[in-house]
Amino acid sequence: MTKLIFILVLPVLLLTVVASAQDGGDFARTMNRKQLSLHKKDKLTHLLFYWHDSVQGRNPTAVRIKEPVSNSTMFGSMTMMDDPLTTDVSRNSTVVGQAQGFYAGAAQGEISYLVVMNFAFKTGKYNGSTIGIIGRDPVLSSKVREMPIIGGSGIFRFARGYVEARTKLSDFKAGVAIVEYNCYVLHY
Ligand SMILES: *[C@@H]1O[C@H](CO)[C@@H](O)[C@H](O)[C@H]1NC(C)=O
Ligand SMILES: *[C@@H]1O[C@H](CO)[C@@H](O)[C@H](O)[C@H]1NC(C)=O
Ligand SMILES: *[C@@H]1O[C@H](CO)[C@@H](O)[C@H](O)[C@H]1NC(C)=O
Repeated sequence: MTKLIFILVLPVLLLTVVASAQDGGDFARTMNRKQLSLHKKDKLTHLLFYWHDSVQGRNPTAVRIKEPVSNSTMFGSMTMMDDPLTTDVSRNSTVVGQAQGFYAGAAQGEISYLVVMNFAFKTGKYNGSTIGIIGRDPVLSSKVREMPIIGGSGIFRFARGYVEARTKLSDFKAGVAIVEYNCYVLHY
């Protein structure tokens, strides 16, 4: 009986394998979570650092690549940044990484940015690991802006979570801003 089932089923299996190979369906497979250590409980990590943005001056860390269509809301502007992240409010404190990405004026009624950036860490065990953010940043209307962490790499693989941004200093004329970032990250 077992033999009969085997004889009947085997060709079907073989046909399925051949068919899926032919239609390109063999590029994906289900994996065992253990292979990527995902069977372990995830960790919750809190990170606190300060983001320094400087659009003018001698050593700008950000550059306006598109001027706004409205100077009052900054709508339509785009600024590319490679901003240092430090352990304290002082620009002279230890740099733990860079915020690389852009912020773009995305609202017509107020100053609110679409922020797309990676936090690229470069110290200790975090060296080489990143956290990716895509969020909405209404810089003036909210004291605390929450933005989602949409992924990560290295230590932060499979990351999810959110950040809270609080402005510590903002000098529009001088083109500098310091923002405190509290990050709450779930990762393995
Ligand atoms: C915004 O301000 C700059 C500098 O004062 C000026 O050159 C530019 O024309 C202004 N743009 C708009 C859309 O008003
Ligand atoms: C950073 O250090 C330099 C020289 O060491 C000093 O001139 C500057 O005022 C310091 N900046 C801050 C924000 O503490
Ligand atoms: C971080 O990693 C880079 C590349 O592997 C290395 O060159 C650098 O020295 C490391 N920095 C620290 C502080 O460990």
